[in-house]
Amino acid sequence: MLLEVRNLHGWYGKSHVLQGVDLDVGFGETVALLGRNGVGKTTTMKALTGVLSRAKGEILFDGSSTDGLEVHALAKMGMALVPEHRGIFASLTVEENLRLAARNGAGWTVQDVFTAFPEIERRKKNPGDKLSGGEQQLLSIGRALVTGPKLLLLDEPTEGLAPVIVDKLVQLIEQLKDGGLSILLVEQSIEVCLKVADRLLVMDHGRIVWQGTGPELLAAEEVRNRYLTLEMA
Ligand SMILES: Nc1ncnc2c1ncn2[C@@H]1O[C@H](COP(=O)(O)OP(=O)(O)OP(=O)(O)O)[C@@H](O)[C@H]1O
Ligand SMILES: [Mg+2]
Repeated sequence: MLLEVRNLHGWYGKSHVLQGVDLDVGFGETVALLGRNGVGKTTTMKALTGVLSRAKGEILFDGSSTDGLEVHALAKMGMALVPEHRGIFASLTVEENLRLAARNGAGWTVQDVFTAFPEIERRKKNPGDKLSGGEQQLLSIGRALVTGPKLLLLDEPTEGLAPVIVDKLVQLIEQLKDGGLSILLVEQSIEVCLKVADRLLVMDHGRIVWQGTGPELLAAEEVRNRYLTLEMA
């Protein structure tokens, strides 16, 4: 396994949000994390990447414990978060946003990102905030790729995007999978999950309460009714 998480707890102040999360992501696997608003999906991503200031549990990443490591060290090990609100620096240009994140030896260079996403290259001198939602999402993913991730953590990448852009993102995720990248994906659209995820996890109240494949989730009506508000396209 690339990522093994056992009994992960996380807090915001006194509020105990993650209450013993267990999850695994295999090498080359795409795992989708589902659940209603506020159950702890984003907090899980933050805890894994060191952004959450108070977390506790066992996390093995590529065979090493991540205990005590901070955001930078975790990024260097190959954890790359594409946050819910994309986290682009508005005052920097598109190109600067990428160069700031880029690391020598990563599989992806800034030029590779431009080649893969010509719509971003066309805007490379524009400020980061002068992009459409879809372009910002591509830039945010590009920024994660140039860090040289082993695990890409995508938090609701398709949220608020037009269907044609969603289709493009699905294709991109499929390409990244084909390239061998492992992905942990928070995603509300069951359609997107069915297309890209090898395994689905359902979260409720800070724990994983169900796991299975896409077709298994489609068949598990009770699980869907109880734990999910899925958008069926
Ligand atoms: N910065 C914060 N400070 C305090 N509480 C927070 C903070 N961020 C989130 N929470 C609370 O923690 C819980 C889990 O939030 P989280 O953002 O992880 O949910 P989520 O599953 O990602 O939901 P959504 O689908 O809305 O993105 C919620 O009750 C939320 O209100
Ligand atoms: Mg969230």
